[in-house]
Amino acid sequence: MLLNRRVLVGICGGIASYKAVELVSRLQQAGALVDVIMSERAEEFVRPLAFSTMSHRPVYTDLWEPSGRAAETHIALGEDADVLVVLPATANTLAKLAHGIADNMLTAVALATKAPLVLAPAMHHTMYTHPATQANLAILRERGAFIIEPEVGQLASGEVGIGRLPDSSVLLGAIQVVLGRNGDLAGRRVVVTAGGTQEPIDPVRFVGNRSSGKMGYALATEARDRGADVILISGPVALDAPYGVDVRRVETALQMRDAVFDAVEEADVLVMSGAVADYRPAEVAPQKLKKGGKEAREVDAEGGFALRLARNPDILGELAAASQQSEAVERIPGGNRPRRRLVRIGFAAETSDVLTNARGKLAAKRLDLLIANDVSRSDSGFGSETNKVYIFHADETMEDLPVMPKTGVAAAIWDRVVHLLS
Ligand SMILES: Cc1cc2nc3c(=O)[nH]c(=O)nc-3n(C[C@H](O)[C@H](O)[C@H](O)COP(=O)(O)O)c2cc1C
Repeated sequence: MLLNRRVLVGICGGIASYKAVELVSRLQQAGALVDVIMSERAEEFVRPLAFSTMSHRPVYTDLWEPSGRAAETHIALGEDADVLVVLPATANTLAKLAHGIADNMLTAVALATKAPLVLAPAMHHTMYTHPATQANLAILRERGAFIIEPEVGQLASGEVGIGRLPDSSVLLGAIQVVLGRNGDLAGRRVVVTAGGTQEPIDPVRFVGNRSSGKMGYALATEARDRGADVILISGPVALDAPYGVDVRRVETALQMRDAVFDAVEEADVLVMSGAVADYRPAEVAPQKLKKGGKEAREVDAEGGFALRLARNPDILGELAAASQQSEAVERIPGGNRPRRRLVRIGFAAETSDVLTNARGKLAAKRLDLLIANDVSRSDSGFGSETNKVYIFHADETMEDLPVMPKTGVAAAIWDRVVHLLS
């Protein structure tokens, strides 16, 4: 989504300006065309050379250069930009932006451009909470600026408080949210499930699976970047919550079911990429089971015991039955007005007979798409960065996609969903 997008980055004279070097590097690596503009005071903290080295482009600093070229540049830069990001946005520059002051290259470009404005304020907590700064932020927010809230943490002064510039991943996520506003999923609500569930045996042990959540998180992030409102229902995973996504944490299949049914109420699309356990221990021991202990268990001669499993609900199966029922009601003259149809997409992680099993699941669950992958391959499935998938359509056609990064698989899936929605 950043490929060939024109990102203007305005740097102010705040102590966190060094962190902007990493952001510029990440934007450039993602394929964006990055033009950096620095305030005079920003140059006290970081040299323009650091930014031009990362952006591979000149850095703009001086509105008053004798050639007069900067006068044209500040208009041209603004006209071409897809977004203007100001970071760290100092209290001083926020005040200027709120009141239309244009006395340096950065503030002049900000006044001249029609590109959306993203602001990442960072400063000492007393400056941030000062009524003047808060009033200026309110004016800018009201005018449509996207404000990335500063974080609470240790500040340059050594004190702990609000005012820290978030990590570049957060800043990058916010830029993607703004750039994606007119994307092909704008105005759509999507629900994605990710990760495996953990079915408790006792308070400290569980039955789980190897799902890393990477595919689901890639799907949620890609949908966000295309403008969707995203709810991500996530089992326990070692991944950061994507910025701008409503992450709802669950542990068990039963919790996953409730969270899905709650989230799909107003949704256009559900992608079940989470690995929901088919079974859970039938009884959960209230206390930690002790080695050799016999509480509520039939222990055999070697001290082993059998764990009885109960069936978990089949979430996609229940949704298929519910949709069949509502379609039947809609066929009755005078029946309920049809609600928004939920596009349902399932995943089948298989280790054998991948294609046969996938076809069976597609039909049984009445899915719009089924994504099948062979998780026995080293380049596909759980934990891997890449995936090899087959996409089955409701009309029984099948696409055999090459091995590609999970982000690429996510893009391919949303391309098909956009087609289904249209
Ligand atoms: C060491 C030092 C650190 C500073 N850090 C910040 C900061 O993090 N945030 C801020 O709003 N101002 C900070 N200031 C104050 C700004 O540099 C000052 O208001 C300056 O006029 C901002 O100019 P600019 O907004 O044009 O970049 C700092 C000043 C100094 C000397």
